[in-house]
Amino acid sequence: MTTSALAPRFDALDPNVVENPYPEYARLRAAGPLCRLGPGSWGVTRFADVTSLQHDPRLGSEFPAGYHEVSVGDGPASAFFQRVMLYRDPPDHIRLRRLVSGAFTPAVVRRLRAHIEDLVDELLAPALAAGRMDLVSELAYPLPVRVICRLMGIPLESAEDVRHHATNIGRAFTAVVPEQTRVDADEAVSWLREHLGALLEKRRSRPGDDLLSRLLDAEESGDNLSADEIVDNTVFSFFAGFETTVHMITTGTAALLAHPDQLARLRADPSLVTTAVDEFLRWDAPIQGTARYVREPIEIGGRTIRRGRVLVLMIGSANHDERRFARPDRLDVGRQDNPHVAFGGGSHLCLGAYLARMEGAVVFDRLARLAVLEPDGPTVREPNTPFRAYASVPVRIGDG
Ligand code: HEM
Repeated sequence: MTTSALAPRFDALDPNVVENPYPEYARLRAAGPLCRLGPGSWGVTRFADVTSLQHDPRLGSEFPAGYHEVSVGDGPASAFFQRVMLYRDPPDHIRLRRLVSGAFTPAVVRRLRAHIEDLVDELLAPALAAGRMDLVSELAYPLPVRVICRLMGIPLESAEDVRHHATNIGRAFTAVVPEQTRVDADEAVSWLREHLGALLEKRRSRPGDDLLSRLLDAEESGDNLSADEIVDNTVFSFFAGFETTVHMITTGTAALLAHPDQLARLRADPSLVTTAVDEFLRWDAPIQGTARYVREPIEIGGRTIRRGRVLVLMIGSANHDERRFARPDRLDVGRQDNPHVAFGGGSHLCLGAYLARMEGAVVFDRLARLAVLEPDGPTVREPNTPFRAYASVPVRIGDG
């Protein structure tokens, strides 16, 4: 069955949407379960549809090569996108996911907690002495890079270079990639492959207790992984664990600064930090949508979406769906019933969710215990990115 009524159009690049997409999402959800994004591409707006489609085998994550080439060109970045687990379906997806999943189990991640606490204290020390900081550049960016370097066994001296290149790959995770971003992404993929490839070779002779060494074990246990797949999925795991976490820290802080009542609640009871982190992720998810390729025709709200089309599961809209969340536009750091989809769902559910939640818990516990945490000027959104992100979150801080 097909319906003739036109679904409303959504323009993610509209400056009002970049500033605050939630009123527009509400309008789209009220109009129906689908919106039009671009040629052959539809957005799914409601929570129930998003969560059921995350498990629907008629949708895949593997796109024909042409799709990546249209968005990022046909250089190293396109080859990279075609090899990483995020864009693969079974059986390759299962093989690649198994490769890195051992590195992110709760048992492995829990061992990092004391290290993360020390890093947060180290990064906050100069800001506490100065009484102010830009939370984006001085805490949110350096922290996840250092954590993931530690997890993977990447020397800290490389962290800044790796951060720079990983950010440039992140910018290319979108349907329309400007020319300069393509060039930067190609260069970043080449640099990271070379750099991590060389580190892998070193580990071959001197294995350690880190992800890189474990990947080599997987290679030797005959898991059928090519050297390119190993390097590219290492680069991807690095990248995946980095920017998203940065934006969780900055959007969470910006949300608290804009809602002093919720900051006061968290300060009065820091044990709320666990629900608070999930609420920040629901409130303003770093990744607002995940794209799926329609492998077989699928009917949504009376409209048939044909094979070869793209469906974007609109995480940000689903997380604010009034059909599922009580008072979704209210920030509630103690929210109990919160099945948000900020980490996706189904077979591609985020592998780093436990680590991200732990990093968030350490950061917000520390921030909530500061004697002073106040805005030090307006926050500034970062428009030039596929993520929900801030360019700057200036704060005054003090430790009593
Ligand atoms: C707040 C932080 C994070 C957010 C919001 C987030 C979000 C997501 C989302 C939405 C997906 C699913 C994409 C899809 O369905 O197509 C995903 C996948 C993934 N994430 Fe995360 N992520 C975060 C942190 C991390 C961290 C810290 C790591 C690792 C260190 C990580 C590693 C991965 C990997 C490897 C995948 C791909 C899984 C697969 O394709 O099977 N993420 N993440």
